[in-house]
Amino acid sequence: MDDTGLPQIPNEFPELSALSTEDIPVAVRHAAERPNSSSVPQKPLLLVFGGAIALVLVVVPLLMAVRSQAPSRSTPAATSASPSPDLSSVPQSGAQPAATPVPSVLGHLPYSEAPASELEALSQYPAIKLRRSALKKLEEMTQAAAEDGVTLVPISGFRTEAEQNELFFGVKAERGQQTATRAALSAPPGYSEHHTGYAVDLGDGDRSDADLEFTFEETKAFKWLKDHAAHYSFEMSFPKNNPMGVSYEPWHWRFVGDRQSLETFYRAEEIETGRQPPPARAATSEAETDAVQ
Ligand code: DAL
Ligand code: ZN
Repeated sequence: MDDTGLPQIPNEFPELSALSTEDIPVAVRHAAERPNSSSVPQKPLLLVFGGAIALVLVVVPLLMAVRSQAPSRSTPAATSASPSPDLSSVPQSGAQPAATPVPSVLGHLPYSEAPASELEALSQYPAIKLRRSALKKLEEMTQAAAEDGVTLVPISGFRTEAEQNELFFGVKAERGQQTATRAALSAPPGYSEHHTGYAVDLGDGDRSDADLEFTFEETKAFKWLKDHAAHYSFEMSFPKNNPMGVSYEPWHWRFVGDRQSLETFYRAEEIETGRQPPPARAATSEAETDAVQ
C-alpha cells in the first residue's frame, strides 16, 4: 500500500498501471467532481457516475487478483500479506551451488572409509591395502625407485576407523598427551586420510630408524620421492607449515591421480580453507620450462 491507501501496481506491469486510480480517464474524473448543477442534464451525469462505479467495481478486484499472482517483493507489507515461497532450495539458472563449510576437527577433515570392494592388498606386503588406482601407481613408483637404487617400503595404507581410534586414543592415553598435541601428530578416527585408501606411509629400506620420524627427510627415499613422486601422482599431504596446522609428515603421501582421489582431497580442502583455485604460475625450474615449451 502507498500513502493513498490504495493498492500500488508493480512497475513490471505498465499495461496495468494505465488502469490505476491516478489514470482514470479524464472524462470520468471530471464527471465525478462536477457539481450537481441544474444546467447539466441529469441523465448523462448518472451515466458517468454509473460508469465510474462500474469501473471501480470491475477494475479494482481485477487489479487485486493480478497483484496476488505477481512475484512477491520483499517489502514488509508484501511479506505479511502473502509470504513469498522459499526458493532457497530451487537451483537458479547459472548459479553456483553455495559451498558448504566442511566441519573439521582440530585441523583434520572428515573422510569416509573406502569400500572393501575397491581395496587390494600390495603384492609384497599383503597386510597393507590401498585403492586399486593408488596401488598400481605405488607399485610402478617403487619399481622405478628400485631401478635408481632406492628402496621404498610401505609402512601403512588403508586404515579403518576402529584402527584409527586405537591409534589416536590408545596412544594418547599411553603417552598422556593433551588432545590438541595428539591431533597435531595423528588424525582422530573418521578424519584420517588413511580411511580413503589413497594414503600411504613410506619408509626407506636402508633407514628403518627414520620410519615415521622427521629424520625421514634426510633419507635417499625422501629425496627420491621429492623429485619423482609427482610423475606417479603422489604428493606429500602435510608439508612443513601446512594450512591445516598438522605436524610435518615427510613419510605420508597421498595419491591424487584420478578424478575420485582429486575430489576426495581437494574439494574438501578448498571448501574448508576458502582457498581460491591457484592462478596459473610461472615455471620454477628448468625442467618445467622444458615441459611447457
Ligand atoms: N597422519 C595423517 C594426519 C592422517 O592420518 O591423515
Ligand atoms: Zn600417514
